[in-house]
Amino acid sequence: MIAGILRETFPGERRVALVPASVPNLVKAGMKVCLQGGAGLEAGYPDEQYTAKGVTIAGSREEVFAADVLLQVRAAGANPEAGTADRSHYRAGQIVIAQCDPLNQPQPARDLAPSGVTLFALELLPRITRAQSMDVLSSMATVAGYRAVLLAAGHLPRMFPMLMTAAGTITPAKVFVIGAGVAGLQAISTARRLGGVVSAYDVRPAVKEQIHSLGAKFVEMKLESAEGSGGYARQMDEAFYRKQRELMTKVVAESDVVITTAAIPGKKSPVLITAEAVAGMAPGSVIVDLAAERGGNCELTKADQTLKHHGVTILGPTNLPSEAPYHASQMYSKNITTFLLSLVKDGQIQIPADDEIVQATCVAREGKIVNPQLATS
Ligand code: NAI
Repeated sequence: MIAGILRETFPGERRVALVPASVPNLVKAGMKVCLQGGAGLEAGYPDEQYTAKGVTIAGSREEVFAADVLLQVRAAGANPEAGTADRSHYRAGQIVIAQCDPLNQPQPARDLAPSGVTLFALELLPRITRAQSMDVLSSMATVAGYRAVLLAAGHLPRMFPMLMTAAGTITPAKVFVIGAGVAGLQAISTARRLGGVVSAYDVRPAVKEQIHSLGAKFVEMKLESAEGSGGYARQMDEAFYRKQRELMTKVVAESDVVITTAAIPGKKSPVLITAEAVAGMAPGSVIVDLAAERGGNCELTKADQTLKHHGVTILGPTNLPSEAPYHASQMYSKNITTFLLSLVKDGQIQIPADDEIVQATCVAREGKIVNPQLATS
């Protein structure tokens, strides 16, 4: 049984799906690993580190496609353009484990299905205890929350910490984080570590305690709870979001940095900051909109662009994990290895069709789309 690691082809992608430290776990389970030369280089993992763990370096990309299992960071809908060049190389019975963005971009997975691959989309992992160590969305959101604050700090004309110097007192930056899920909580702790004064809001009242435990203030608003299932928010109607926007206007206007992370699984991101609210912020303030890929939480956000509106900088980065590729790959590798090993029994892949994790993540099998969310969307 051979696991193949391809060099990522999505533009600007610097992560690799498997780091050398994960190789012994696969070898122990009876697998061999084959790597496309240079696949880990941009993330800080040169070929020698893989060969030291017994990995074979393939001379060509095609050679890696001979593997029984392919581990990728981005396949199908998560690499919709460059990824099409690989389509003819996949083959029946081959297992592909990757992020595939199947709910937002279902067509590439549908196009891949007839090849007969068994395609697993890691974004569809259920948020259950057993899947926690496989949860790539949480791992990558952790990196994104951290990087978002550093990005904001780089654009802000002020410093984050309070400083009392002989040249006078510097007041700390005020940071407002909207949405306190994985990315938001990491943004709060990073902003706190830099010395910012942080406040946060989430429509799930359950996170209030977590916000406090990180040393940030929870902004109280007279809004009903939008707690959904599995630690996610549910979608609310436009009247709710209008009221939320109104209630947040003052805190947004008083903030030097706003980090937005509000998300509802499988849905477009709610618009929580209008152009008018941006105009109400002090010139030089910065908004980092982590929801940019799904429309953005700020009405002005454009994916992967930096804009200015009334002197306020608005950033909509969509691939922040790739900006810390060493650790993002390390976490991704741990997640994908745990997922793969959950399918290996006695050195062979066994896919239990009735398993909750398999059912949630398997997108295509035996030439067909098997995930109902994709079949109907
Ligand atoms: P999550 O589901 O853990 O957290 C989202 C939070 O937003 C939840 O706590 C939810 O209750 C809250 N929320 C929903 N509606 C809200 C509203 N109207 N007001 C306030 N809070 C609201 O998601 P996670 O993993 O933290 O990801 C957050 C966002 O960051 C997602 O859009 C995700 O796609 C994005 N992301 C972006 C990356 C990038 O490079 N730009 C990388 C990784 C994630």
